Amino acid sequence: RVAPVITIDGPSGSGKGTVASLLSMRLGWNLLDSGALYRLLALAASNHGIDLANEELLRVLATHLDVQFLPAEAEYSQRIMLEGEDVTNVIRSEYVGAGASQVAAWPAVRSALLLRQHAFRQLPGLVADGRDMGTVVFPDASLKIFLTASAEERARRRFLQLKESDSDVTLGSLLDDIRKRDARDTQRTVAPLKPAVDAIQLDSTVLSIEQVLGRILEEVAIRD
Ligand code: C5P
Repeated sequence: RVAPVITIDGPSGSGKGTVASLLSMRLGWNLLDSGALYRLLALAASNHGIDLANEELLRVLATHLDVQFLPAEAEYSQRIMLEGEDVTNVIRSEYVGAGASQVAAWPAVRSALLLRQHAFRQLPGLVADGRDMGTVVFPDASLKIFLTASAEERARRRFLQLKESDSDVTLGSLLDDIRKRDARDTQRTVAPLKPAVDAIQLDSTVLSIEQVLGRILEEVAIRD
């Protein structure tokens, strides 16, 4: 029997990562944070001095990327390892995020990461979050969610997250970054950010994380 998949796609700051993580724990299913793969690739490229414009070298790097996702334990979210080093926090920086968005624009990189993403599909099931989970990577998913939030709200959330660790950051510059990244992610020719035709759209500007999770669990119950 092939494992069922729930996909959660949307822009960064929509809350999809948190929702996906909570949902996977609630259901006891596996979790794929696909954005982390692009972030890991960008970080590895930076560590090895590989130019983000070099599609062929990035493809090779993506094929051989030495990464590990250690499952969440109790209240801790999953730990992410690159070449044996814990990079869980490092990959969340604005710098790595911007690099991720650049490497993600290369078709050869996306197809190199496809098999790796399919490998996460194991029983009893998978919750996958990203930009193209429902459209490209798992088009046969049993439930597809597209989670949005206004750019202003996403900038505000990011600001609250970052202000402790990064005192230089301003709300205005974050809003600017978010708009640029949205434009790059929605306008690229390969796997642009857009809802699958059969996706359920939820807006977390007006819904709390608990409410979003509740709505998704209702949909899961209907399908069971
Ligand atoms: O979701 P997250 O912010 O971690 O993703 C980082 C970057 O990786 C995004 O800006 C996007 O360009 C890229 N990405 C993607 N496809 C995915 C997940 C992430 O292109 N499925």
